[in-house]
Amino acid sequence: MWVFSNTAVSLDGRIGTVNDDHFCVGTDQDRRRMGLLRAKADAVLIGGQTFRMGPHPIVAPAGLQVMGAQDRLINAVMTRNGIVDHMGDDWPDDRVDLRVFGPSSLDVSAHEARGASVHVVDDAIDVLAALRELGCERVLVEGGGDLIFSLVAAGRLDTIFMTLAPRIIGGVGAPSLADGIGFSPDSIQDFRLTDCEQLGDELFLRYDQKE
Ligand SMILES: NC(=O)c1ccc[n+]([C@@H]2O[C@H](COP(=O)([O-])OP(=O)(O)OC[C@H]3O[C@@H](n4cnc5c(N)ncnc54)[C@H](OP(=O)(O)O)[C@@H]3O)[C@@H](O)[C@H]2O)c1
Repeated sequence: MWVFSNTAVSLDGRIGTVNDDHFCVGTDQDRRRMGLLRAKADAVLIGGQTFRMGPHPIVAPAGLQVMGAQDRLINAVMTRNGIVDHMGDDWPDDRVDLRVFGPSSLDVSAHEARGASVHVVDDAIDVLAALRELGCERVLVEGGGDLIFSLVAAGRLDTIFMTLAPRIIGGVGAPSLADGIGFSPDSIQDFRLTDCEQLGDELFLRYDQKE
């Protein structure tokens, strides 16, 4: 299973504001690239906080879906508190298979009533195992920093697609590409740069896990 993330990052390493405002870090070109990556995925995995920032179905652009990718893109959300209270009128959506992953305390019937299946898991590794059981071969992680950190810490993030946006967001505590508890110097995870493209003032970078 290929697990890859895609994130737009500011020059100061932030992926959002300190107040979690809803806005795009990257340009239209970045969003176009995001669509292309979604078209390659069987599932898009996000954390509950990222879901709340844009609680809408995540779909690949029409006509771009890669052969073999599932008809209905799995939208996988990791949450302890549940997402029903944040779902708008655009759920359920026929193009999307919504799966919610979290503890046994999640309200199963409330989620099912909104068209979401509930899976009881402990962590992001369990989510990947469940997605594999569902037949997923390519999982796109769209953040945020908490979820990405847990996957990097477990050595389960194969590829990082990163748009470097020429902007400064600032703010102590603003989310970054990987947050969590952080690494000590002897456990910092290294990646290698495998692609780099400039479009306008943005850099589109790909990093792969070191062997
Ligand atoms: N620039 C970009 O490309 C980009 C992309 C994505 C996100 N963002 C930004 O990133 C920020 C959000 O990132 P974040 O790091 O704060 O949060 P996050 O990674 O999106 O989500 C964290 C949440 O995941 C859930 N979670 C974590 N561990 C879990 C576990 N073991 N079991 C069940 N659920 C678990 C919890 O959800 P609950 O709280 O629901 O319980 C937790 O609050 C926002 O500002 C967003 O705009 C930016």
